[in-house]
Amino acid sequence: AKKAVLGPLVGAVDQGTSSTRFLVFNSKTAELLSHHQVEIKQEFPREGWVEQDPKEILQSVYECIEKTCEKLGQLNIDISNIKAIGVSNQRETTVVWDKLTGEPLYNAVVWLDLRTQSTVENLSKRIPGNNNFVKSKTGLPLSTYFSAVKLRWLLDNVKKVQEAVEENRALFGTIDSWLIWSLTGGIHGGVHCTDVTNASRTMLFNIHSLEWDKELCEFFGIPMEILPNVRSSSEIYGLMKISHSLKAGALEGVPISGCLGDQSAALVGQMCFQDGQAKNTYGTGCFLLCNTGHKCVFSEHGLLTTVAYKLGRDKPVYYALEGSVAIAGAVIRWLRDNLGIIKSSEEIEKLAKEVGTSYGCYFVPAFSGLYAPYWEPSARGIICGLTQFTNKCHIAFAALEAVCFQTREILDAMNRDCGIPLSHLQVDGGMTSNKILMQLQADILYIPVVKPSMPETTALGAAMAAGAAEGVGVWSLEPEDLSAVTMERFEPQINAEESEIRYSTWKKAVMKSIGWVT
Ligand code: G3P
Repeated sequence: AKKAVLGPLVGAVDQGTSSTRFLVFNSKTAELLSHHQVEIKQEFPREGWVEQDPKEILQSVYECIEKTCEKLGQLNIDISNIKAIGVSNQRETTVVWDKLTGEPLYNAVVWLDLRTQSTVENLSKRIPGNNNFVKSKTGLPLSTYFSAVKLRWLLDNVKKVQEAVEENRALFGTIDSWLIWSLTGGIHGGVHCTDVTNASRTMLFNIHSLEWDKELCEFFGIPMEILPNVRSSSEIYGLMKISHSLKAGALEGVPISGCLGDQSAALVGQMCFQDGQAKNTYGTGCFLLCNTGHKCVFSEHGLLTTVAYKLGRDKPVYYALEGSVAIAGAVIRWLRDNLGIIKSSEEIEKLAKEVGTSYGCYFVPAFSGLYAPYWEPSARGIICGLTQFTNKCHIAFAALEAVCFQTREILDAMNRDCGIPLSHLQVDGGMTSNKILMQLQADILYIPVVKPSMPETTALGAAMAAGAAEGVGVWSLEPEDLSAVTMERFEPQINAEESEIRYSTWKKAVMKSIGWVT
């Protein structure tokens, strides 16, 4: 059959906490042509621990590439039109592997993992100078969330890691580094790099000088030789080398030229390039990022300062304020896998619709403590306000409401830090296809919620960065290129007073979840 003629195509790997995707876009219209998604296992070996298998993650990337290429073939689209590949990834998740064998030396310690709570407590007693030492360099509070403490734990507790470091065989990386190293050849010359956005989540990276920070590495006891090279978010890092896989082998030699932590990628995909533009992405967690331009703005209300993107070696760096919520989509997965009250994530909408209210039931899903704006590792999940009337539909509704209330908390913090309240909220991510959630979100924020028709904004951002890279040049970052993306708008439908009453009851529930463990 005759192959359809298209402009240059760009692929994007979106490796999130819950699933991996590979997506292919038309660089001229930003239209999504084909994609494939694979769910990723999570292991909970002990209370508070969260691990993933780095090889399963890599395998899922190969599988998604393979299947997407197959689907493109069925659409008569020539795979050789793919001119570049971008990578976006769950951030902070920590991998150490052996550069001689290519084998991971331990499971990936996932960002949600709480095992480093005592490591954090011990380190916080030893902070040199003033308490601001870590925050002023990294923009981050000392927390279990970030990679440095996870890496410290691996160095302290895993013999294989200690030996590999001593024998100069160990490489550290967040998921982007692990994937790019593997996809560019692994033990046969793989490129060991990361980008400024991912580096800014390790807690070892100085967000002002944009380099690994010697003092921080000394403080955390991290040998600098195991760290990846830090590059911009848009440049050619290396070429694809995965000839062992039949279909995906067709991508052999294609440059990998975009790399962004998933939340930064979504900011780019939503075209939030101006100071003051913000987006909220509903994935496993929920992350509201507001572009603050070339300025590092430090929050007084529990938000993080992070590198937003740097789209080219010679391009300027942009920063963002970030409100991070650990549990959003993860609460739906918990209702499915742990309570079994739904069989698929989509079913949550049906349950919630049956009742249309939580009937006074509030669910604080503080499974990994509370992140922004509280930063309370002592919090644990609670469901309260139960009566004999309460059923699974009310709990499902309360779970959705929890996602919205948590977003309200970080939006309030953002408005206070920025001074100019957001007039609407741009959203994206898997959960935004849930219409009840979107309406609830507009009601609880009391501002309109605006969502693009194509929710895969994270992948789009990674594809844009890859396509725009020097030496690739198939994607222009001008907004008018996004002709394939239309917007859907949700207006608040309840009155402001009702919205406030619900929100203040939520806050009461949050207070009950704090201090649960000591
Ligand atoms: O910081 C963690 C974040 O990058 C995870 O994103 O999409 O898996 O919720 P996601």
